[in-house]
Amino acid sequence: MTDKTHGVATLYEQMKAKLSKVVPDVELKIKAEIAYEINLLKKKRNAVILGHNYMEPALFHSVPDFTGDSLDLSRKAATTDKDVIVFCGVRFMAETAKILSPHKTVLIPSAKAGCSLAESITAEDVHNLRKQFPGVPVVTYINTYAEVKAECDICCTSSNAQKVVESLNADTVIFLPDEFLAANVAKQTNKHIIYPAKTPKALQSQKPGIDYHMIGWSGRCEVHELFTPKDIEMVRRQFPDVLVLAHPECSPEVVAASDFAGSTNAMINYVKQSGADRFLLLTECSMGDNIIAESPGKELVRLCSHRCPHMQEITLEDTRAALHEMKYQVEVPDDIRVRAKKAVDRMLEIG
Ligand code: 13P
Ligand code: SF4
Repeated sequence: MTDKTHGVATLYEQMKAKLSKVVPDVELKIKAEIAYEINLLKKKRNAVILGHNYMEPALFHSVPDFTGDSLDLSRKAATTDKDVIVFCGVRFMAETAKILSPHKTVLIPSAKAGCSLAESITAEDVHNLRKQFPGVPVVTYINTYAEVKAECDICCTSSNAQKVVESLNADTVIFLPDEFLAANVAKQTNKHIIYPAKTPKALQSQKPGIDYHMIGWSGRCEVHELFTPKDIEMVRRQFPDVLVLAHPECSPEVVAASDFAGSTNAMINYVKQSGADRFLLLTECSMGDNIIAESPGKELVRLCSHRCPHMQEITLEDTRAALHEMKYQVEVPDDIRVRAKKAVDRMLEIG
């Protein structure tokens, strides 16, 4: 038996132990071989692989050195001693890694892995808002590109948004670009939302309970905006014992109808620590497979027609090509990077 045959067989057995219920065996054999090659290239390039919780199961459970939510992975990117960071996630995440580790080579396996939230706002939009509301602090969700972060005072992720907003000790806050996350944080912090001109008037009147001290933007996650309170009702009718977990990029109505809302990490930990057996996850579908792989006793009800096309761009094949050809290198111009880093560092200091 050659080293390679032995290495692939070992990796296949490890992957099968976790993934036999969620990945067909024939696919596992192929993926194990690719994962083996990635691990060799990883050593050769002195690289670290960071994998977001939404990565497909065969990737998630094989090659990443670290997996986690946006906040977790930003911290890992800031402290790695490797020469190369391969970011198995979407572009704004890889850019954040580059902002925090400018002297490392940062690779993203697909050049097409965007995000509807990041696409929803430009640096000029932020500039105009600052003019419209002078002196009001600007919080940006991490799901934005570097040039937008560079115009903002502080970043946040879904796991620390409340803490970040409260840290500002301001009655009025501009919160960009996710209108649903802004509304959910407004509820948690007792602040209220001013929608800027881009948001239709009709939408403002649909949220009568919301006061006007937080300024929101009208970006939305194209995956989480699809979940509705009706989906929850339907599942609860069928499975009365189900616990419903929503990502805070879902609408406030969906969050209100759920039992828990939190970042992808918070949802994973909730399922692991809960004594309950059945959960409905209102988030990208792959994460449910990743949880089942580690907690086979749990039953997850998912609405799998709602997938993130950007996260799905990242495959094991592309990750191998990324390390082989050292592509796609993520660059952030220095003048933008330095200003964006201030907003990200300020968030990381909050803990
Ligand atoms: P998390 O920070 O909770 O992992 O969310 C990232 C994301 O893009 C969710 O859609
Ligand atoms: Fe962006 Fe939504 Fe995809 Fe997350 S799930 S990367 S917020 S489009």
